[in-house]
Parts: sequence; C-alpha cells; structure tokens
Amino acid sequence: MNDLAGKHIVLGLSGGIACYKAAELCRALIKAGASVQVVMTDAAEHFITAVTMQALSGRPVFTSQWDARTSAGVDNNMPHINLSREADAIVVAPASADFMAKLLHGRADDLLSLMCLARPLDKVPLILAPAMNREMWAHPATQRNVAQLRADGATVLDVGAGDQACGETGDGRMLEAEELLYEVVRFFAPKALAGQHVLVSAGPTFEAIDPVRGLTNLSSGKMGFAIARAAHEAGAQVTLVAGPVSLPTPRGVGRVNVKSALNMQKTLDLLSQQATVFISAAAVADWRPAQMTEQKIKKDGSGQVPTLSFVENPDILAGIAATARARSGALYCVGFAAESHDLLTHAQAKRARKGVPLLVGNIGPDTFGQDDNALLLVDEQGSTELPRASKLQLARQLVGEIARRLPAARP
Ligand code: CTP
Repeated sequence: MNDLAGKHIVLGLSGGIACYKAAELCRALIKAGASVQVVMTDAAEHFITAVTMQALSGRPVFTSQWDARTSAGVDNNMPHINLSREADAIVVAPASADFMAKLLHGRADDLLSLMCLARPLDKVPLILAPAMNREMWAHPATQRNVAQLRADGATVLDVGAGDQACGETGDGRMLEAEELLYEVVRFFAPKALAGQHVLVSAGPTFEAIDPVRGLTNLSSGKMGFAIARAAHEAGAQVTLVAGPVSLPTPRGVGRVNVKSALNMQKTLDLLSQQATVFISAAAVADWRPAQMTEQKIKKDGSGQVPTLSFVENPDILAGIAATARARSGALYCVGFAAESHDLLTHAQAKRARKGVPLLVGNIGPDTFGQDDNALLLVDEQGSTELPRASKLQLARQLVGEIARRLPAARP
C-alpha cells in the first residue's frame, strides 16, 4: 500500500552489523511510496557498500560533508543543508551507540551528524533506530543518551531482543525492516485517538461440541486486526481480544486469545472497565451446543447420527453497551453488523437493538476472508458509506470517524 506516498525520507546509516537490515528498509520505504536519499557514515561503509544502497534507493549516496556534487539540485557544496531541507524525516537506522552519543553533544564532524544538527527542528523530525550489543544498550551512558535525545525531540525507537551477531543474547538488536516501516508510517499518522484506550474484538468464536469438534464461522479476523492497527497508529493504547485466527498481532497492540463466546464475554467484560472505546468486530457465534461432551463422540456402527441441542450465547456487545450507558458515556461502543441483504435497514435496527451510538454494517459473504471490504456507518444522524477499499484503509477511515464523534458523545 502507498502509505508513504509523497514522503521524502533521508535514510542515514551509522556503523553496525544491522546495516544489512537498512538495505531491506530502504526497499520497503520505496515500496510504500516514499523517495529515499541515503547518507552513510564512514563506519557504515565498513558494513555495506554505497553501491548497494544506491541501487536500492535509485539515487547517488552521500557519505561526506565535503562532497561537491549537486545535492537536491543545488550547487553550493552544502549537502548537509540541501539534503536535510527537502526531507519529511531523517531516519537513522542503524543508530549506533557512538552515533547517538555524538548527536547528544551536538557534534557534527561527518555528513550525517551535521545534517541531524542542521535540520530545522520544527520541520524535519529525527527518528533513530538503535542497534548495538546488549551490554552497550544497557550501559547507563547509552540509556542516559537515549533519554536526553528523546527530551531533545528525537523519536528513539525501542530495540528488539534475541540473538546478537556477537554471539550474546539480549536487548539491543535493531528492529526488523517491516517493524521499522510500520514505525515510520505510524509516525506520520494523525494522532486522532491519542489518550484513548481502545478495546477491539476480532475473529470468530469456536463453540466446542466435543474435544475434537466444534462450531465456528468464516470470519477471518482481518477487519478487527486492521482496526487494532489503525487505532494504534492513531495514538491509542490498544487491546485486541481475538477468537481463533492465525493472524500476526499488530505491532504495539496487546492481545488476548479466546475461544468460545463465553470466554470472549468474560475477557471483554473485564477489559472494557478500563477502556474508553470498544469496537466489537468479532463474529460471535449466536448459539453453542447445550453440552460439551468430555470424550469424542464415536460412531457406533448403527448409522444413527447424534442429536445436538443448542443454547443461545449472551449478547456481549449489548451487555457492555448497557453497562457503558449506566457509566454515563465513559465508554464509546461501536458495533458491527454482518448481513447478507437489506444492509441499511438491518444495520439501523441492530444499532437500536444493541444500544450503541455507532454501528458499522457490511455484507458478510462479500468480506469474510477478503483483504478488502465496504462499510456502511449508521448513527443517530443517518448513514455514511465508506466505499470498497482495503481493510486497513477502511480501518483508518473508521478510526477517524470514531474520533470525530467522541467529543460529542462524552459527558
Ligand atoms: N455480538 C456480540 N455478541 C453476540 C452476537 C453478536 O457481541 N452474541 C456483536 C458482534 O460483535 C457485532 C454485533 O454484535 O458487533 C452484531 O453481530 P451480528 O452477528 O451481525 O448480529 P447478531 O446480534 O448476531 O444478530 P443476527 O444474527 O440476528 O444478525
């Protein structure tokens, strides 16, 4: 997706084995629609060549403040000024311990640190992706530098944990290219839900018949997971309660896995007490078998089929919405409606039945398992269509729509 269309990123590399990940990051940024100008320190050139980075970025790489080539179309022999002025952000990945120490003191004896110092603070944000050995990362000097760089306005990303190139294991690995791309995209996203705690339910439920069989439905969980990601991009603290799906957890999102509708209800009832927004995207099974047998139901050879009887599951959303009303609007509830026909009529009726301010209708058979969808938003004022688009694009629009409605909904 063109999440970074129109953005120009200066990708700075300082010295570290994680430079190999910067090559992948460069590709990912470009695939996301950004243009990328690579700047490397001397130390970075020990780990990866400028040739590689030029090939990936499609632009000559700058490595020296004395480079007299035309930079950003200007011939004044000042690449540190010209290259930083046209950037929407400078992303230093990897940011070595030494490079961060240097930035902290405002030193500027190579092109990359010179650019970081010379950038207009209010226009060109600085994002640092640290990478180093675990002892270096844990050292009080590094931690002090990270805290000070943050106080000075830089965005210092966290580090990954795991096996390190030096053979040790611990914190300090640079985030993977995909994670860094997410962080850059998130950085540019409007923070419409800052300060909110968003609870999202997603996926199907699984109602056991016996230890090896059960009832479920075709919900893939993709819409709910996309909403969780979009809410996190928008600055919210996000908890995702997921039925049985095999989707990866969106970065930065807390996840609780559940199986049955009753499990889901217990978890959501508890977590909703801390939330300020609840988005119920899960396709909760309407019924569950009246009994779950402890042992597998066996064929007895007679050709006779077992008879199953069902009981209705509780309506989780309606219950949480009722409690929310009793708490006089501290929790804003959003329901979904998966329908097969007459979407507007059903969505309006469901909104009233569930007692929620906003209900999002979609046609179930057109969306289950797909990567795109179309939504119909129904609230007190009327209805709004969000035309067919990827689930992530729709999730971002929905987050914007929710954020717009929050102030009026609060006591
Ligand atoms: N929902 C819920 N608990 C249930 C059933 C549904 O919390 N037991 C929530 C869903 O997460 C969704 C909304 O209610 O936000 C509507 O779900 P849907 O399956 O479309 O509707 P139902 O209430 O099951 O009604 P029907 O099957 O008659 O369409």
